[in-house]
Amino acid sequence: MEQIVFETDFPKLNLLKRGKVRDMYDLGETLLMVATDRISAFDVIMPDPVPEKGKILTQISLFWFDVMKPVISNHIISSNVDDYPEICKPYAEMLRDRSMLVKKAKPLSIECVVRGYISGSGWKSYQESGIVCGIKLPDGLQESEKLPEPIFTPSTKEEVGVHDVNINFEEAVKIVGRNLAEKVKEISLLIYKKGAELADKKGIIIADTKFEFGIFENNIILIDEILTPDSSRFWPKESYSPGQSQKSYDKQYLRDYLISINWDKLPPAPFLPKEVVKNTREKYLDALNLITGKSYGL
Ligand SMILES: Nc1ncnc2c1ncn2[C@@H]1O[C@H](COP(=O)(O)OP(=O)(O)OP(=O)(O)O)[C@@H](O)[C@H]1O
Ligand SMILES: [Mg+2]
Repeated sequence: MEQIVFETDFPKLNLLKRGKVRDMYDLGETLLMVATDRISAFDVIMPDPVPEKGKILTQISLFWFDVMKPVISNHIISSNVDDYPEICKPYAEMLRDRSMLVKKAKPLSIECVVRGYISGSGWKSYQESGIVCGIKLPDGLQESEKLPEPIFTPSTKEEVGVHDVNINFEEAVKIVGRNLAEKVKEISLLIYKKGAELADKKGIIIADTKFEFGIFENNIILIDEILTPDSSRFWPKESYSPGQSQKSYDKQYLRDYLISINWDKLPPAPFLPKEVVKNTREKYLDALNLITGKSYGL
């Protein structure tokens, strides 16, 4: 049976915040991060859930956190609900497969974006100026073309409802300090390359992605989610062809639909046709299956 969780409400737990996708509960020493089935596009939450999307994202993230462990530690304490604090027990069934018990970190106020291909806001900025986040790129690049080297293109991290803004490296330095900015840049590029190489073997191009880091016990750790179709552009390698936008395993399909109906990108978002929800879900499932070998409801 498909399980749909649009929003959680656990009366015994202390709700810290609701992000666009995740409900975060403060358990005192630790945080409980619950990935719901909400989907956002253009930073606005859609009124319709994508059934089990939260499970899909959680399973993909767990896979990558593990792969990246030799390079960078992460916030995971456990993703096994049976190990969670006693107070979570009444909600075990809802939490299963879609939650993580995590270390309470202090999130850095920048989002660490890495681009291996030129697309989205990077492509827009390149067309205007040849520059992306302060980095001058070679002339004559086509849309979706592979960059000579992956680039670090940070953005600000804004509250729900406000769009993140692309910034250059020096602006990132002003926000988090030079030492941290240099470290997260180096780690981001390293884990992007490792992830992209592995995904490539599974037939997926990771065109770009966003990492979040936090400080825990004076160390930098990876937090939030990693290399999912929500935080990245995933393209099927098979049909990759530069010079245009690409087919994708991520939200691009939903974005294209929303553009096609001329929605002004301001809340409230329109209700989604069943077909659009179904196709979006299938794309997320394809990504899960290709990356981890797992599947839900197939
Ligand atoms: N280990 C952690 N410690 C503290 N905060 C965390 C941790 N992991 C994730 N977070 C924060 O929890 C939130 C997750 O919610 P979600 O992914 O839905 O947010 P979002 O809407 O994408 O973005 P925003 O951060 O702007 O709300 C993020 O704000 C993220 O920075
Ligand atoms: Mg997020």
